Amino acid sequence: MTSFISPLAPAEAWRPQLHYSARGNWINDPNGLFYKDGVYHLYYQMNPDDSVWGNMHWGHAVSTDLLRWQELPIALDAEPEGLGYAFSGGAVIDWNNSSGLGDGVNPPIIATYTQHSKDAVQVQSIAYSTDGGKRFVPYAGNPVIANPGLKDFRDPKVVWHEPSQRWVMALVAGDRAHFYTSTNLREWTFASEFGAEHGAHGGVWECPELFSLTCAETGESRWILTISLNPGGPNGGSAMQYFVGQFDGQVFQVEHQDTRWLDFGTDFYAGITWDGLQTMGDERVMIAWMSNWQYANKTPTDSWRGAMSLPRRMALRKVDGHYRVASEPHANLLAARHAGFDWLQDRPLGVGELLSTKELPPVAEIVLQLRWSAAAPVLEWQLINAQGEQLSLVLDAAEASLSLDRRQSGWDQEGFGRAMHAELYATAPGMAELRLFVDRSSIEVFANGGLTCVTSCCFPQSPYSTLQLHLRAGALDAVSAQIYHLE
Ligand code: FRU
Repeated sequence: MTSFISPLAPAEAWRPQLHYSARGNWINDPNGLFYKDGVYHLYYQMNPDDSVWGNMHWGHAVSTDLLRWQELPIALDAEPEGLGYAFSGGAVIDWNNSSGLGDGVNPPIIATYTQHSKDAVQVQSIAYSTDGGKRFVPYAGNPVIANPGLKDFRDPKVVWHEPSQRWVMALVAGDRAHFYTSTNLREWTFASEFGAEHGAHGGVWECPELFSLTCAETGESRWILTISLNPGGPNGGSAMQYFVGQFDGQVFQVEHQDTRWLDFGTDFYAGITWDGLQTMGDERVMIAWMSNWQYANKTPTDSWRGAMSLPRRMALRKVDGHYRVASEPHANLLAARHAGFDWLQDRPLGVGELLSTKELPPVAEIVLQLRWSAAAPVLEWQLINAQGEQLSLVLDAAEASLSLDRRQSGWDQEGFGRAMHAELYATAPGMAELRLFVDRSSIEVFANGGLTCVTSCCFPQSPYSTLQLHLRAGALDAVSAQIYHLE
């Protein structure tokens, strides 16, 4: 393999290969995700005029495998002279035409979204599509929920609640979640509020998401509420927290006191899941915006700005007697693997030892398995490029922590450079397993089956081309590492 020398302008050199980005302009939150007839629909906040935030519309892309996306025309317009811009929300397939907005042939797709007026008044609206999601028409009776006098009142996401035979909407009101119910998606009744006593409150709550998961090991189910928080994330700015509990169709009851993070990195935000996958079991697949409001408008890609995370399958896992949510890299990512090689096979590693690969593919997946029995290891691995820029990752087994330091990773203006710290949850004593996905301007780290995730953007001058492992303390009985070129 030869070294990667980019013939492209920097903005294109940072163009993600595995992640969705729009051809041009600004994008943020994923919106309206639904899956039907073999096609994943991805909508997102988009400014059609500029590569900074503003004038929000819903952009649109489709995929059959969640890896290769085709960008389509804007699906939902802003109404600046009417109720306002099209802010974030979800979509559901209205299988039985409960809304009455269908054409009598195909079930309508109903988008639920916030309209944000020129005077910054936020109300909830719906829009319907009878052409399979290409265009959404705002409902003539909008808004479906008026503003109760709150500045921050937005991001309605709907799920079908089978036991009560009702649609349930979660939205955010300041730093609380509100739940509403409906039988027809047009008329909504307030059910309850959640959050005063729970979770992190360092900023406003945004983009709620509510769904149930069944634990494969125990067969038990729980409801999961995810909330995007900005600012107040564990490593600064925007981040996603989640709650595990029970939901009876009206009230969400959380079953833990601690704050839990879906991803500890600075660049995983506003994630929601696809509607329509539930026909394939309890399947919840999430995608998030890979940026952070602290610097989102300033990242150096210029003509395009913003990308989506990799798709992740949500799983309920029981760890030390408590249910946690694991975010697993979607199984379709295995199909992106090309030209893999085993770098290390059950190699013992003594303290101070340093190993290094010759070449790292520019878009890579790195899989590591670590085993230890005596002294708990502190293992550092670094991704380094020709300019000496580097991303450093440290697993400290005794501290049960994982840290990602991007301060030397390349572009570091606007407060971008920082070290991130994550809690590491073990699935078994004396072992850890990690999968790292390195794209041209991001890294996503999944530890122990996605119980700990760290997602970070990075803008190196050239791709990281070497991987170094360095055991700083303790001892490892065996390290195995596989490296794949992804495309
Ligand atoms: C989250 C968010 C949402 C809002 C949208 C506006 O990133 O602030 O709360 O609906 O972005 O683009």
